[in-house]
Amino acid sequence: MNFTEFRTKWAPVIDKFLSQHLKSELDNQQISQIMSYSVMAGGKRLRPLLFLATLSALGQEISEQEVQISCGIELIHTYSLIHDDLPAMDNDDYRRGKLTSHKKWGEAEAILAGDALLPLGIEWIAEGSNEIAIVKIITKAIGANGMVGGQYLDIDSTNNAEVADDEDLINQMEWLKTGCLIEACVEMAAVYAHADEQSKAKLLTFAKDFGRSYQIYDDLVDVVETSEEAGKKTHKDQATGKNNTLTILGLAKSRQELSELIKHAETALTGLDGSVLSGFLALYQKVLS
Ligand code: IPE
Ligand code: IPE
Ligand code: MG
Ligand code: MG
Ligand code: MG
Repeated sequence: MNFTEFRTKWAPVIDKFLSQHLKSELDNQQISQIMSYSVMAGGKRLRPLLFLATLSALGQEISEQEVQISCGIELIHTYSLIHDDLPAMDNDDYRRGKLTSHKKWGEAEAILAGDALLPLGIEWIAEGSNEIAIVKIITKAIGANGMVGGQYLDIDSTNNAEVADDEDLINQMEWLKTGCLIEACVEMAAVYAHADEQSKAKLLTFAKDFGRSYQIYDDLVDVVETSEEAGKKTHKDQATGKNNTLTILGLAKSRQELSELIKHAETALTGLDGSVLSGFLALYQKVLS
């Protein structure tokens, strides 16, 4: 099976679980509607697909329990996007081709929808995996030593000339805000499926490269895609004083860095059933030329 076939099979299953459970598990249908609005707005579902694809590469059957864990990851990712778009953060009006949560429902409502998605995501992961080690992987990846820490560095480095050429700091910021969660998707699957040490090491190398590459890709999306294509406002990072891989390295070198990470990530999959996983890297083609 290739990536496109895998996505065609599983993205609708993920969407159905998300939509049904956000309705049935929440008492207040208004907050349920606000949470669903952003979750169901049409993201690429990359992180849940990555968790499931890693399981699949390890020969693990996928049933509703694994889908629940993958959807927990998507809830957490969506929370991070809702908060990332708030006026106090990146102040964005569009996300996933629709108005951002705060534009549609109000700022307090958007903050609360994010606040509610985060623990529900953790609940689904805990319930589906029934394993503290897996809960620990995700909570570590999204807290102050992970995603939130990266978002802090992002905000702290915005319009800050002192860090404008600090490549190490920018690398760390991008790894933490985006790479960590992507790595966690793969690591959770490796632990869940009881991967042998050698397979786990290869998968984690792939995950580190893919995780690091994803924010470089996102920084490139900002300059090469139209707002319609990206579903969010583009040509904005430089104008708003963001310091990122692209502003430090420029277009050509960022593309080169991305190409090198792709090669390295593909090499890491040697000896594994990696046809679906390597397909994630094909997503980058449109920003590479
Ligand atoms: C966007 O993530 C924000 C980053 C962490 C780079 P995605 O590109 O995965 O966004 P969706 O989920 O498809 O909307
Ligand atoms: C977002 O990075 C990272 C997280 C949400 C954790 P960006 O701010 O670059 O993402 P976009 O461009 O708004 O999707
Ligand atoms: Mg941001
Ligand atoms: Mg943003
Ligand atoms: Mg961005």
